[in-house]
Amino acid sequence: DKGNHRHFMAKEIHEQPEVVGRTLAHYIDMARGQVVLQEALPFDFARLSRLSITACGTAYYAGLVAKYWFETLARLPVEIDVASETRYREPPLERDGLTLVISQSGETADTLASLRYAKSQGQHTLAVVNVPTSTIARESSAVMPTFAGPEIGVASTKAFSCQLTVLLCLALAAGRARGVLDAEHERAIVDALITAPGLMAEAIKMEAEVEGLSREIAKARDVLYLGRGTSYPMALEGALKLKEISYIHAEGYAAGELKHGPIALIDESVPVIVIAPHDAIFEKTVSNMQEVAARGGRIILVGDARGAAAGLDTLATLTMPDVDPVIAPIVYAVPIQLIAYHTAVFMGKDVDQPRNLAKSVTVE
Ligand code: M6R
Repeated sequence: DKGNHRHFMAKEIHEQPEVVGRTLAHYIDMARGQVVLQEALPFDFARLSRLSITACGTAYYAGLVAKYWFETLARLPVEIDVASETRYREPPLERDGLTLVISQSGETADTLASLRYAKSQGQHTLAVVNVPTSTIARESSAVMPTFAGPEIGVASTKAFSCQLTVLLCLALAAGRARGVLDAEHERAIVDALITAPGLMAEAIKMEAEVEGLSREIAKARDVLYLGRGTSYPMALEGALKLKEISYIHAEGYAAGELKHGPIALIDESVPVIVIAPHDAIFEKTVSNMQEVAARGGRIILVGDARGAAAGLDTLATLTMPDVDPVIAPIVYAVPIQLIAYHTAVFMGKDVDQPRNLAKSVTVE
């Protein structure tokens, strides 16, 4: 049932404040301002020397965001790869180490094969999954569920924001266990995290503006997405979302890589979507935007009021609410999804069932 929406994808984008809130309610003790994991973990974060993450597609990008969180909040080294590579690379994995798999469906063939490989190496396995009865959930030593509810649209939206939510909670739990985060620091991040549903609802209100902008994007043959830090995987996710439902060629790049190749593509025909909340490295991204503007590139800045005030030469700026940079990926998922959705709808594409794609990739 699509409710009042034209497509499942629209419904699922709009559901995010609610399902992220539901996921938070499961993982956060609001009174104590800390994360609580309902399930006892069969390993100790304090004793891990490394975390290996594997997943496919959008779930992989959630894992890439989480890499930044585990590294900064828990000082835990993270290795991450797409599951189709992990399974055949057969990387050396320490006995009693931890492999984290992320999957909406819990049935993705490559992710499942990587999970089985990790187990064969004597690793503990932890799965962030949306379908609790799935094969991956059953075969993992521990499960951290997302509470997105059934996701019907082929393009993953609400499952992604719920994955991010669970992964940030896990990074906080790891940070505490490893003595990196004290109670005060944890509480500060939890306080920020519980504002996410409200901020996502605010971001959804920008929909009419995004729709207008999408008419411009729809004219493009290629679109570049740029970001730094956790906005880098968000750029990758933005590009994936756009290409899978609008069939416009899109690429995500770390903004700092611009000079190492993609700047050669810049001209007025290639919109450059820059994901840049005001964080510690915002100024670095500003320099990249100046480089794009100097070559006649048309920038669409997805940032906040301080970014909008930076006086950049942009085609458009989507001014997002101010967010704590730690939780920015969760909130910025919304405009990224809306851009892809409206561009594809404007172009008359079947957003819920894009050509050649299956919701769950259960064969290689
Ligand atoms: O069910 P999973 O999370 O394991 O699926 C992984 C990918 O197939 C999935 O995220 C895919 O990339 C989506 N179509 C992205 O929107």
